[in-house]
Amino acid sequence: MKMSVILRHKLPTQWLLKQICYSTSAKSSNDAASAKTIPKNLLEDKQTANLQKENGAIFDKRPFKLHLDKEKTYSWCLCGKSKSQPLCDGTHKNEFLKIKLRPIRFKVEKTGDYWLCNCKHTTHRPFCDGTHKQQHIQDAVK
Ligand code: FES
Repeated sequence: MKMSVILRHKLPTQWLLKQICYSTSAKSSNDAASAKTIPKNLLEDKQTANLQKENGAIFDKRPFKLHLDKEKTYSWCLCGKSKSQPLCDGTHKNEFLKIKLRPIRFKVEKTGDYWLCNCKHTTHRPFCDGTHKQQHIQDAVK
């Protein structure tokens, strides 16, 4: 899509970022841009944790590639405090830290490599959707 078309129709920035991040013409293999579509969490509609509006602390300003098995259920760290990023290690349960955010349980459709969000601001939890490229994320102090 040409930039003039994007500007004329005033498409949302979020949509534009996803198109850029998952574009097939992207060259970097060390980035989420090598993926063609944002995967779907098969457990998305089966939990209330996904309804949490708040985002966690930024752990890193770029995604992390992880090999996932379609037979397994994973828990993605939303609070940003886990020592096993991008997955949950139970740190949110420490009562002294007073963390209200819960992890996002997820399953994938196919076994393979996936880019998981580490900025904790994706709108497609737990998968990177390019949100980390926004200026307010890149400018944030970790
Ligand atoms: S790391 Fe890419 S959206 Fe969070």
